Amino acid sequence: MRPRVLSGMRPTGALHLGHYHGALKNWVRLQHEYDCFYFVADWHALTTHYEEREVIEKTVYDMVIDWLAAGIDPEKATIFIQSRLPEHAELFTLLAMGTPLSWLERMPTYKDQIDKLKDRDLATYGFLGYPLLQAADILIYKASFVPVGEDQAPHVEITREVARRFNHLYGRAANHDQQVAAALAKLSKDDARTIEKQRKSYGQDGSAEALGRGESVVRKARDTATLDNDDTELLLGHLKGSGKSVLTEPAVLLTETSKLPGLDGDKMSKSRGNTIAMREEPAVVTTKVRRMPTDPQRVRRTDPGDPSRCPVWQFHLVYSDAPTQDWVKQGCTTAGIGCLDCKQPVIDAILREQQPWRERAETYLTNPKQIHWIVEMGTERARTVARQTMKDVREAMGLNY
Ligand code: TRP
Ligand code: SF4
Repeated sequence: MRPRVLSGMRPTGALHLGHYHGALKNWVRLQHEYDCFYFVADWHALTTHYEEREVIEKTVYDMVIDWLAAGIDPEKATIFIQSRLPEHAELFTLLAMGTPLSWLERMPTYKDQIDKLKDRDLATYGFLGYPLLQAADILIYKASFVPVGEDQAPHVEITREVARRFNHLYGRAANHDQQVAAALAKLSKDDARTIEKQRKSYGQDGSAEALGRGESVVRKARDTATLDNDDTELLLGHLKGSGKSVLTEPAVLLTETSKLPGLDGDKMSKSRGNTIAMREEPAVVTTKVRRMPTDPQRVRRTDPGDPSRCPVWQFHLVYSDAPTQDWVKQGCTTAGIGCLDCKQPVIDAILREQQPWRERAETYLTNPKQIHWIVEMGTERARTVARQTMKDVREAMGLNY
């Protein structure tokens, strides 16, 4: 079983090259190594776009087409739509009961976004609670890793805190001590003693090594089928001094991504009007790149320029190989090349990158049933996992009457 990765994207418009290089390319890579769950975060989109639901409705399936066009393989990754799984809302509600308000209020994204998105009224309950909804998204699939950008890392951190708190509050059954004793009795005396010793050491000085030693004994016992999954989780929790870990603490998966700025050198975003869509028409791509601003100090063709002042150079950093980059540096600083010459390899590289996307997207666009089917399959696969977690959660909280 490969470790599970979970990530979501908000459907608020056509995906552009910034999305591709900043996230999607990474998703494609991860699907070969992990059990990847990728979902359309339509409820998240509503937290900011509750007055523009048409955008969301229009974008949901287009976004999935962009994913598949980019190379997400529905045989490998599980693709689904958040709102089709009310279990997310149930977990969100249950987690909300014990989540301190201050955890949400201190989220850096909270005040930032309220300041930044001045044209929207974000003083809503939904927007404040959105990191907790994200926590529910992650925890419901017991994801080990969440690939997100730096801006989203605090949301994964709060998810860990929420999971820890939940396990602490509800991970202990009434007969917890007997259960632990029974599980320990299944092990050899030596192993049981080691676990107790490491647990004590971890409890006294928080030694990660002690915890690791204890965990490896437990895992070995699981691998040799001495312990079943329930006992394993129970003892892993016991080692940490908590109850059974009902919810899994996820980690941020930091991977190398390239930052592609917008056409004007600012962050690429639809509201700034500086994007190239993933499936932009080739003629439009050409025009957009040709119109890109360059080094403002290079006014005439005969003026030497400096790539570090030029947004086109940022594109070369993503799209060009070393010899081409050298050619740019040399040609720009000596006025040996014109800016249109300089832009041509970028245009060519973008068009080359987009070609397979266009072809793959075409097959889905001409066959909308297929895309609905893919989402349907993914949703049902996700539902199986989400339902199981909710069963565990309800049981832990004493809600299975
Ligand atoms: N908040 C994320 C964003 O704005 C989207 C998202 C929602 C997400 N739920 C998630 C990402 C769970 C990772 C995991 O980009
Ligand atoms: Fe920018 Fe290239 Fe023109 Fe230099 S030559 S200013 S790097 S577009």
